[in-house]
Amino acid sequence: MKINVLLSPLNADELFFTGKTTVVIDVLRATTVINTALNNGAKEIIPVGSIDFAMKISGNAHDGQSLLCGERNTKIIEGFNLGNSPQDYKKEVVEGKSIILFTTNGTKAIVRAKFSENLLTCSFNNLASVAEHLVKINEDVQVLCAGSNGMYCIEDTSCAGKLINEITSRKEGVELSDAARSSVAISNEFAFNHEDMMRNCEHGKLLIENGFEEDIRFCAETSNINTVPFFTNGVLKVSPSIPA
Ligand code: MLT
Repeated sequence: MKINVLLSPLNADELFFTGKTTVVIDVLRATTVINTALNNGAKEIIPVGSIDFAMKISGNAHDGQSLLCGERNTKIIEGFNLGNSPQDYKKEVVEGKSIILFTTNGTKAIVRAKFSENLLTCSFNNLASVAEHLVKINEDVQVLCAGSNGMYCIEDTSCAGKLINEITSRKEGVELSDAARSSVAISNEFAFNHEDMMRNCEHGKLLIENGFEEDIRFCAETSNINTVPFFTNGVLKVSPSIPA
């Protein structure tokens, strides 16, 4: 198995992902939200690349079974049901619902990687389960960091490195690209306090400024859920477990 990390979505175009196994990471906060919502019983997440498209899809859904969710500049979008705070995606709110989700970087990164053969989402909250899943698939892996408006961000890179550590602790002989090795080095630097790293990173500071400090604590919880979201036919669903 070879693992590479794309430090920004701009490192690759849509066709690059064709047939690949890809893991999208947007710790603050899109993939934490996706993992949490599916873990709490959401039927599916429909990740979209624009607010217009999100509105269009929701306009066709009149059955009360959909929620229109996401953020612009970290805040809930006018007319939407939920913003992008993971702790709002509670069981009583999301169970059985289709969640149409737009976020600035995270859902766009997922849409960009849509031609992948296997497309998963990862955050600190489902690290161990995603690692186990990847070891079972046993294919080369592209870890796609959603970053921030095309730029590098430390929290996604650090989570990528931690995911790689989880994989290499389960499997021998994994080959790492330079970007993958660098991600591991960054992750090891923050191994004992990635919550503090996230409070002090650029997006973390913005979230605190905008009143979302509690979200950072939530996004820092590690391997506390077992859900592995898997993209198929335009939606993310809970992946069925793969036999060992
Ligand atoms: C994003 O997709 O850029 C993020 O999830 C933004 C956020 O909600 O903090």
